[in-house]
Amino acid sequence: MEHVSDAPKVPVKAAGPDWITPATEPLDPSIPVNDYDGFAEEYSAENETSLLNAYIERPAMVALAGDVNGHRILDAGCGSGALAAELRERGATVTGIDASAGMLAVARRRLGDDVELKVADLRDPLPFPDGAFDDVMASLVLHYLEDWGPTLAELRRILKPGGRLIASVNHPFVEWISADPRPVYRETTSYTDLWTFGGKSFPLTFWRRPLHAMTDAFSEAGFRITVISEPKTAPGAPEPFSGLSFMCLVGEAAG
Ligand SMILES: C[S@@+](CC[C@H](N)C(=O)[O-])C[C@H]1O[C@@H](n2cnc3c(N)ncnc32)[C@H](O)[C@@H]1O
Repeated sequence: MEHVSDAPKVPVKAAGPDWITPATEPLDPSIPVNDYDGFAEEYSAENETSLLNAYIERPAMVALAGDVNGHRILDAGCGSGALAAELRERGATVTGIDASAGMLAVARRRLGDDVELKVADLRDPLPFPDGAFDDVMASLVLHYLEDWGPTLAELRRILKPGGRLIASVNHPFVEWISADPRPVYRETTSYTDLWTFGGKSFPLTFWRRPLHAMTDAFSEAGFRITVISEPKTAPGAPEPFSGLSFMCLVGEAAG
């Protein structure tokens, strides 16, 4: 049957930056995967000004956070601290954790000494007491985790009742439609990209999962989802972008 549509043909997502390519060969086991320490400075510089980070993802997260004056915020997977800096400017007291000491070193340089920064893996129990934070921001980090269950339970534990988990992840539809070969949508599966900086390639392994797996994981950890959004470009973006890139979720910690 012929399908006629008046919809303009637009790419699902913009052609990714040329420094990201799918890994096609078996990985060299001697090269560590997701080793942000190896390219912390280069990634941080890219993240600072790129369309996807500086004009889509970060403004969306700041807008979702809203008025954070006086809030205690954990930036989980804070990387080099660009979001933490924006939240601090808005009056929040920010703590940052990240698995990469190299990324935290860049964050320390940006943020100075009066922000608590700790090396911590989001797959492990977190070094904070119950109810320590008003909000947790998890920017572009959950898609590195195969199992969200233990992590979301920990984030729920360290939030006060009614506190918010505000997360951004690679959009599940983009991760499905743009993959070749296309994976089974309903399954949680991994894939590896190579990120190339200065002629050296670093493997990054991501986990894609269907939308229902994300919302189920939030609910099972005790979060009531209040927002699911698909951010678009903020004003001032250097180029137009009509595709899909990220999805944001806001979960409110049940009392
Ligand atoms: C794409 S960067 C995003 C950094 C920052 N949130 C931002 O948006 O600018 C992903 C970050 O997640 C961190 N990360 C990856 N897996 C992690 C884990 N299991 N626990 C803690 N941090 C992790 C990386 O070290 C890296 O700094």
